[in-house]
Amino acid sequence: MIGGSGLYAPGSLDDAQSISVQSAFGTPSGPVTTGTLEGVRFTFLARHGEGHRLPPGAINYRANVDVLKRCGVTDLVALSAIGSLRENMAPGEFVAVDQLIDRTVQRERSFFGEGMVAHVSLADPTCPQLSAHLASAAEGAGASVHRGGCYVAIEGPQFSTRAESHMYRQWGADVIGMTAMPEARLAREAELPYALLGMVTDYDCWRDSGEAVDVAQVMQVARQNAETARATLRHLARALPPIRPANPIDTVLDHAIMTARSHWD
Ligand code: ADE
Repeated sequence: MIGGSGLYAPGSLDDAQSISVQSAFGTPSGPVTTGTLEGVRFTFLARHGEGHRLPPGAINYRANVDVLKRCGVTDLVALSAIGSLRENMAPGEFVAVDQLIDRTVQRERSFFGEGMVAHVSLADPTCPQLSAHLASAAEGAGASVHRGGCYVAIEGPQFSTRAESHMYRQWGADVIGMTAMPEARLAREAELPYALLGMVTDYDCWRDSGEAVDVAQVMQVARQNAETARATLRHLARALPPIRPANPIDTVLDHAIMTARSHWD
């Protein structure tokens, strides 16, 4: 589980331990907290680090996904504050994102490169099964949830201009944030089913009322949502099947690597 703005701790896990895990890809956002919730093992990482030290462009997404994989994580649930580009997706509501547009420009976006070439499909960047479980869990926790929505990931750290906000709406984006990319790309390369529950904190700046995004408002709504987010995890833990069925995402690399085995570094 990766927690975004306003969600820096997973709530009470049984037998919780905080562990600093090393990654070959550099420094992750912080130590992971691992423990059990309703008998299900959870491993939590605060995306922006303790005390929200890391801006979106400075997060080492590769290290974060890598340490979770090394911890034995099988499924990745991301919780994020998002802006809304649609009137019907109001602040305080949740969106189970199913599509992504990437407008980030200066982030490491792949575990692969020279020496090991791989092309995974990102046609469906989130896992439908995990997303459905997550959406139901959020509803169980009392949230109003939109099932499906297209998220445009911007580089930030500034919010968008009005022209950009209107353009993203025309592109078909429903919500906006700064962190789901390259996180979703890397989860897929790590063969981790990924589900993203966005918590709407604001209407960005496209509305006729002329309002602009205000960090105080974003953080206030994010903090209000944090308890619902933690309750969502408890509901999710209760609803997950005791034996995890195989998922095609578990084996995407079987058909993605182009480099001949004899040339693997
Ligand atoms: N996170 C929360 N609200 C946002 C917005 N309007 N734009 C980008 N990221 C956000």
